[in-house]
Amino acid sequence: MRLDKFISNNSEHTRSQIRKLVKAERIQVNGELVDDVAFKVKSKKDLVTVDGKPIKPIGSVYYMLNKPVGYVCANDDGSHPTVIDLLKRTENQKNPEESHPIPFKDLQIVGRLDVDTTGLVLVTNDGDWNHRVTSPNSSCKKTYRVTLEEAFDIKTLRHFTHGMALEGEKKPTKPAAIELITPKKLRLTISEGKYHQVKRMFAATGNKVKKLHRESIGDIMLDPELDAGQFRSLSSNEVQSMNKKHDFISLD
Ligand code: URA
Repeated sequence: MRLDKFISNNSEHTRSQIRKLVKAERIQVNGELVDDVAFKVKSKKDLVTVDGKPIKPIGSVYYMLNKPVGYVCANDDGSHPTVIDLLKRTENQKNPEESHPIPFKDLQIVGRLDVDTTGLVLVTNDGDWNHRVTSPNSSCKKTYRVTLEEAFDIKTLRHFTHGMALEGEKKPTKPAAIELITPKKLRLTISEGKYHQVKRMFAATGNKVKKLHRESIGDIMLDPELDAGQFRSLSSNEVQSMNKKHDFISLD
């Protein structure tokens, strides 16, 4: 891999900064100064340093975050703070002692939430893993705690469990599961992620979502130890749990 790609992948230095660092003779490979940003580095074998500090391959990272209201699921946004801004604040990290540098430039948000939705957001730099979780074919289940404006009308249950037409969508929704908590509070589990899906499903049955909170994605549950705005790395079991096939929600 080229030296500039290796350093930019594994640190906060941009390619143009790396060019300047090379010119300023601040970069070494195995103790030797390099004068070419295209120098070929063997990422597992070579020791690359900037100002004497080693740049180590970061590899794949996976985080869960408890999203508060008011943050958007985007890498950059002109008008709102983003969930990536939350990761930039070290005081939000639940276990900083276990942490490695966060590759901010490469982070992807795994399934977005609306600005007014709270709860579980997954973030990674592993594009294949992101695809496995979010691909329409994966049928990965997502569970939301929903607070409604009106009491849930049990006559509409069948629309949720058997699928309903949503405006602008060619196909009906896939079977969903509902668990009533109180007349106006319930858990909804869906296995797809159409735009504003939960709000649109309740709107289609004449109700309105007042509050929406994501509790889980697949087998990954939002850690109750995380306050709003806090994040932690996923355990290897949590990461691996997304590699298995997801069960479908049955019609019964
Ligand atoms: N469905 C919605 O309507 N909004 C969300 O944020 C997530 C799912």
